[in-house]
Amino acid sequence: MKLKLDVLLSLAIALSSSSAFAQWLDVTSLDSGNGTKWSAPPVNGGKSWAEAYAKASALVANMTLPEKVNMTTGIPGRCVGNLGGVPRLNIGPLCLEDGPAGVRPVHGVSQFPAGLAAAATWDEELIYNRSLHMGQEFYDQGVHIALAPVTGGPLGRAPRMGRNWEGWFADPYATGVASYASVKGLQDSGVAATAKHYVAYEQETFRNQYGNFTESYAVFPPGEQRSISSNLDDKTTHEVYLWSFAESVRAGTAHVMCSYNEVNQTQACHNAYTQNHLLKKELGFQGSVISDWGGQHDNVAAALGGMDVSMPGSGFGGLFGVMWGDVLVELVQNGTVPEERLDDMVLRILMPWIYLGQDQKQLPDVVFNGVGSPFFNATSGYRDVRKDETATLIRTIGSNGATLLKNTGGLPLGNPQRIAVLGNDATDNDLGQNACGAGASSCPSDNLNGTMSMGGGSGYAYAPYIVTPLDALKKRAIQTGAEISAITLDSNVDSAVQSLLPTADVTLVFVHAWATEGFDRKDIELDPHMDDLIASAVNFSSNVVVVMHIPGVVDIEKWIDNENVTAVVAAWYPGQESGNGLVDVLYGDVNPSGKLPFTWAKSLDDYAPGTIVDDPVLAPQSNFTEGIFIDYRWFDSKNITPRYEFGFGLSYTTFEYSDIAIDESAAHPDEHAIQETSEPFLEYDGSNSLYDVLFSVTATVTNTGNVTGSEVAQLYLSIPEDDQPPRVLRGFNKVKHIEAGASATATFELRIKDLSVWNVVNQTWYIPNGEFKISVGSSSRSLPLTATWSKSS
Ligand code: NOJ
Repeated sequence: MKLKLDVLLSLAIALSSSSAFAQWLDVTSLDSGNGTKWSAPPVNGGKSWAEAYAKASALVANMTLPEKVNMTTGIPGRCVGNLGGVPRLNIGPLCLEDGPAGVRPVHGVSQFPAGLAAAATWDEELIYNRSLHMGQEFYDQGVHIALAPVTGGPLGRAPRMGRNWEGWFADPYATGVASYASVKGLQDSGVAATAKHYVAYEQETFRNQYGNFTESYAVFPPGEQRSISSNLDDKTTHEVYLWSFAESVRAGTAHVMCSYNEVNQTQACHNAYTQNHLLKKELGFQGSVISDWGGQHDNVAAALGGMDVSMPGSGFGGLFGVMWGDVLVELVQNGTVPEERLDDMVLRILMPWIYLGQDQKQLPDVVFNGVGSPFFNATSGYRDVRKDETATLIRTIGSNGATLLKNTGGLPLGNPQRIAVLGNDATDNDLGQNACGAGASSCPSDNLNGTMSMGGGSGYAYAPYIVTPLDALKKRAIQTGAEISAITLDSNVDSAVQSLLPTADVTLVFVHAWATEGFDRKDIELDPHMDDLIASAVNFSSNVVVVMHIPGVVDIEKWIDNENVTAVVAAWYPGQESGNGLVDVLYGDVNPSGKLPFTWAKSLDDYAPGTIVDDPVLAPQSNFTEGIFIDYRWFDSKNITPRYEFGFGLSYTTFEYSDIAIDESAAHPDEHAIQETSEPFLEYDGSNSLYDVLFSVTATVTNTGNVTGSEVAQLYLSIPEDDQPPRVLRGFNKVKHIEAGASATATFELRIKDLSVWNVVNQTWYIPNGEFKISVGSSSRSLPLTATWSKSS
């Protein structure tokens, strides 16, 4: 039976291969909502949860029907999500909180740098440590399930997507690396991770049916308009949007959150093809699928389509409609939902809970809240769970992710005697440091929002403090004996600028762009007045350094080539230690080594068109017609010159690359799977796993400048197959602290999957015949070293 379905699927897709457009259309005919056709295999605990499976099975065997349902359906409570558990069996209650930049909505915790800021470090170790420290704070606040990390939904297909800053790179491979590291970091702290948002969730506009009362886009009465449908073909699904979720599964993620959108015209949380077939069968996922809040629109379709936990269930005052609970009891009683399906849901919730030891150790009581919300039971109480070293880590991620885009001599600062600071982004928010994060629409209607340390919505984390750029600059100026004067407004500053700037040695201009969940950015401009601020700075100073706190690309074409702009730093959303990390870079205590996790275009029009769909129709459709050609793959294949390419970032030193070598003796079995996927692949050379390493590539990186520096060496592959981009990222290695004149070795391990493409006819990964070109260098467009590799036939 299994074989037959696969063959039918292959045929359907094979027939559609004439064009990308036809491909997505035909995939929609797969009837992705059919939970009978696309059923998931029963769980068994996989590689790591066998013991947990045995224990969980014994518990489930002991539960009544209402108790089982109680495990699957959210209830009102203190946390963003609450599961009542089964007190009779010492299970629960369980607390679920956001994610992914800190524990939210909680005080007494840290505001970490946003995902994008951590991605810009290209440092797997820092990404892991960020999650490890965040996990400790979740755990110590009594949170069982962190609604984090964002592991590729969004991936960054649409430059205006309001939530790109919550996630990682606009590239599946690099996002896969970060997803693995961040899931593992959280779970190594004992908290369960939730890889989100599954899948192809790439725009906020029309993201769900409840538009009129929870979203910004009131077009039709609530419930009438369907969620945006992401329509994508099978190859794109596998090679781009599923990749990083596969890495989350390999890291052993306890949970996956299904997204708000439809996928090929079936609601993601009801989608038997993506949830049962792709996630649970192909990726072998053993944990539970938790709905995004209000992502479930139907009781039966969700249960049969592979969703396991309904959130918020009866919580949030029934805002999203009350799902499951008593209704699920009835559906099981009348045979609509088989009891085995319900048992499977409960096993998937209990296994990771047991595996992580949460059944053995009582987590601390949940004592927080602190943000008046009608949706949670506010309790008074404050517990500070921060550790001293966490602030240092946050500062380090900030400085290591800061990306130097232009430098004609403005940086490092050296020892300026007179410093002018310009812009409200240098200082505190007039309304308090958390004024921009709590409510999605509270920012930025005026100009006194202060420095942007984080974006808004559920991905915001409450800052215990923010070290603003001005705080840190003043501290430094006092140490060095410099004079520092700040104009902390963005408009009506002309006369102040005229009198201050001409006498300063350097002018530091601070600007930002705000982004938040629930909205896509309407354009890629900086926030109002900020281009004008830079324009007036360059009129009165010949040494202007621009610092930007931003959620992704912004249009800098009006001023970037101005010769008075002597340096530009993208500092992203860096979290609570903003100023400290920045000053480390400005003064050269830390040599910048951040690189762009996406392509920085000269114009929005240079990206693939139409990636945010806002047609006011009842069933809006977003066709992913660019297929696998997202971000740099688009620019490379269309020969479009970006302002700064993917992977670009300057240093205060220079690096040279030499001596590329391929080492086939470095082949070894996969060592990283905490859980194993069941992805089909054509075996190669006696390999057992798609993730076995076939060979390594090494290259020498020499610091040819005058100061110590770290370099992100990058490896791109040109895959010898039709319809592939000119090159795809398949390795990166941050080679740290290379002294002036010294050399170090960058090593990249290439796994079978890294060399493979997805065959839509046979439904397997395979390594194409022909010559692979391997390119190594400092960015996607600066690749001085090349080598070739072909598979032995
Ligand atoms: C909606 C967001 O999309 C999701 O990321 C978050 O975890 C839930 N709300 C709960 O706040």
